[in-house]
Amino acid sequence: MDTGLCARVLLLLEPARLLCNWMLPAEAHPAASQGAMAAAAGSSADSKVVCVTGASGYVASQLVAALLAKGCTVHGTVRSVANPAKTAHLKALPGAADRLKLFEADLLKAGSFDEALAGCSECHHTASPFFNDGVTDAELQLIRPAVEGTLNVLGSCKKNGVRTIVVTSSTAAVYGRREGNPAGHVITEAQWADEDLAAENKVHYVVSKIKAERAVWAFAEKEFPEARIVAVNPTLVVGPMLQPVMNTSSAVIAGFLSGEQTAVPSGYITIVDVRDVVAAHIAAAEREAASGRYLLVGGVAKWADLVASMREGTPSELAGKLPSEIADPAAEAPWRYNMKSTLTVDCSKATKDLGIEFRSPATSVRDLCADSVFQSLVKPVTA
Ligand SMILES: NC(=O)c1ccc[n+]([C@@H]2O[C@H](COP(=O)([O-])OP(=O)(O)OC[C@H]3O[C@@H](n4cnc5c(N)ncnc54)[C@H](OP(=O)(O)O)[C@@H]3O)[C@@H](O)[C@H]2O)c1
Repeated sequence: MDTGLCARVLLLLEPARLLCNWMLPAEAHPAASQGAMAAAAGSSADSKVVCVTGASGYVASQLVAALLAKGCTVHGTVRSVANPAKTAHLKALPGAADRLKLFEADLLKAGSFDEALAGCSECHHTASPFFNDGVTDAELQLIRPAVEGTLNVLGSCKKNGVRTIVVTSSTAAVYGRREGNPAGHVITEAQWADEDLAAENKVHYVVSKIKAERAVWAFAEKEFPEARIVAVNPTLVVGPMLQPVMNTSSAVIAGFLSGEQTAVPSGYITIVDVRDVVAAHIAAAEREAASGRYLLVGGVAKWADLVASMREGTPSELAGKLPSEIADPAAEAPWRYNMKSTLTVDCSKATKDLGIEFRSPATSVRDLCADSVFQSLVKPVTA
C-alpha cells in the first residue's frame, strides 16, 4: 500500500482505526462479514420494521443481513420474487425465515413501493441501476429509474408516514468538476459534480446519480419537510458479497483475476468497504442528529498496491492471471476507474456523526478476493 497516498484521505479519519484496519483478521466469509457489520452498527436487539429497496443488490444484500442480525424485521423489495438468483441468498440469511418479507416493486411503476413501505418506520433506498456498459437508451435504462424511481420511493414513504429515510447516492454526485482537483483541493460534502460535464462525457450513470440526489433534496424541501432524509455518498464499493450475481463494482476487481486486465493501471482509485457503507446506512437512520450528505471513502490507493492486496487474498490456483507489469501512463488506454492523479477527500463528517471507522482499500480488496462467492463468479477470459 502506498501509505503516503492513503494518508491523504486517511489522515482525515480516526488514527486509531488506521491501526485497527491493519490488525484485523480478514473477514473473508460472508457470514463473518455479517457479524462485523452488526457489531459496527451496534448489535442490540432492535424490533423495528424497515424497508430496503433493491434488496437483492450487492450493497443491499449486506444491509439486509446486518438489519436482520440486529433483530429488525425487513421488508425487502425485488423486481421478481420468483427469481431465486435474486432471492435465495436473502431467504437463507439468519433471521430471514421469521423476519424477512419480500415484495415486488419496480422503480418505474408508480405506487410500486406502497405495500412494502406500509408499517415501516424507516426506509433505506438503495435500488438504482448501476452499470456503465451496454447503455443504448440512457434515459430509459439509467436516468428515469434513478430519478423517477427515487421520487416514487419517497412518495410512498410520505404516503405511509415513513419519516426516516437513507438514500444511497454516490461520489459520482460529488467528484467530477471541470477544474479537476488542483493540489490542496479538499473534496467535502459541499461539492457537487458538474452534471453538464458528465452529460458531455456521456457518463450516464454519473448523470443519473447527480439528478437522483438533486431530486431527493428538492423533494425533501418542497414535499416532505417533516422527514429526516440522509444521503450517503460511497465511492467504489468493495468487500465481501452475498448475492450470487456479479455486480458492477466487484466486476472491476474481478477483471484483474479473469485476465481482462493485462497490465496494472498506472494511476489511483478511491474505495470504500461494503461493511462501512452498511454501517453508515444504519447509523444514519439510528442517529437523530445525522443530516445531509455523507461522503464515504475508505482511502485513495494506487492500483499497484491494490493488485498486491488482491494477490494476498486470492488462492494461488486463481491468482495466475493477476497482472504484474505496470502500464506505461503515456500509452495506456483511458479507463474510468484509473484516476491519473490522486485527490484528497474529507470524510470526517461520517466519522464524527456516524461513527464510521473506515477500513482501508487494501482490506476491502483482499477480503473480496478471499470471498468464496466472488471467486465462484470470476470467469477467466479465454484467448
Ligand atoms: N457498488 C458501488 O460501487 C456503488 C458506489 C456508489 C453508489 N452505489 C449505489 O449503491 C446502490 C446499490 O448499488 P449496488 O452496487 O448494490 O448495485 P447492484 O448490485 O446492481 O444493485 C442495484 C439494485 O437496484 C435494483 N434495480 C435496478 N433497476 C431497478 C428497477 N427498475 N426497479 C427496481 N429495482 C431496480 C436492482 O434490482 P435487480 O437485482 O432486479 O436488478 C438491484 O437490486 C445504487 O444506488 C448505486 O448507485 C454503488
